[in-house]
Amino acid sequence: MEIRDSTSPPPVVLDVGSGSGSWAIEMGSSYPQAQILGVDLVIDRDLHAPSNVQFKQLDITKGLPSVDRGYAIIHARVVTGHLKDPSVFVQAAYAALAPGGLLILCDACKPLWGDNSAPIPLIPGIHVPNDAPTAGSWWVGWMDVWFRTAYKHYRPVDELIKEHHELSLVHQERYLVPTHEFNDDEARPGLGAISNSILLGFCRGVVDTLLATGQFTRSQIDEWITLIEKEFETKPIYMTWDVACGVKSS
Ligand SMILES: C[S@@+](CC[C@H](N)C(=O)[O-])C[C@H]1O[C@@H](n2cnc3c(N)ncnc32)[C@H](O)[C@@H]1O
Repeated sequence: MEIRDSTSPPPVVLDVGSGSGSWAIEMGSSYPQAQILGVDLVIDRDLHAPSNVQFKQLDITKGLPSVDRGYAIIHARVVTGHLKDPSVFVQAAYAALAPGGLLILCDACKPLWGDNSAPIPLIPGIHVPNDAPTAGSWWVGWMDVWFRTAYKHYRPVDELIKEHHELSLVHQERYLVPTHEFNDDEARPGLGAISNSILLGFCRGVVDTLLATGQFTRSQIDEWITLIEKEFETKPIYMTWDVACGVKSS
């Protein structure tokens, strides 16, 4: 991808809800001619980033930092579902983009089974493992609870772009990522192992959020994570990810 010609000023890219900073750092390393700014509620001070990548702590619901000519790209991965009103964010992103600038939204949606059978949500305390219907999934149950509680403001990323009339949806893609290296294919070596580690890390990282729903005890949640871990090792489950890109009309 060429994101500027050699005579124009450096394009500025905003990574919203930058988290670990991985996207901003990868972007900055791949495009040394661009300036990348990652913003998040919490910034890890030990991030090792190239000199064209900066991070800033801020709450994006209070506004986005502005730049003179507007951003060439605004990217938000797994962020809009955390916001009470993701449409307000899309409007703010639109205002902050340069004419012709690109808004890239990416998010997970509920997972699919590899064999296309209908997933059945299972919740510890309601089902015990030996009772579990063979077509059911502990992971689908986890995602179901997640989408009904902490992620209840989630809206499909393409929908968020399409509802903004001055953004043109120029790209939309849904892709499946295996939840374990067991599912790895030759074209994407290692992807299953990375995905497995991220998803189990996510489960362990949101235990307090699930506890706060008051629906589960800690031991139920711990047991649930163990069941998910085993399930990832034994069943071909794929996470579904959506990407949607909108361009601001010039
Ligand atoms: C699931 S993480 C995704 C991190 C990163 N985009 C990635 O893909 O690895 C969501 C991030 O959004 C950040 N976030 C949520 N609400 C925010 C807000 N109001 N302002 C800034 N960051 C926010 C969280 O702190 C968290 O780092």
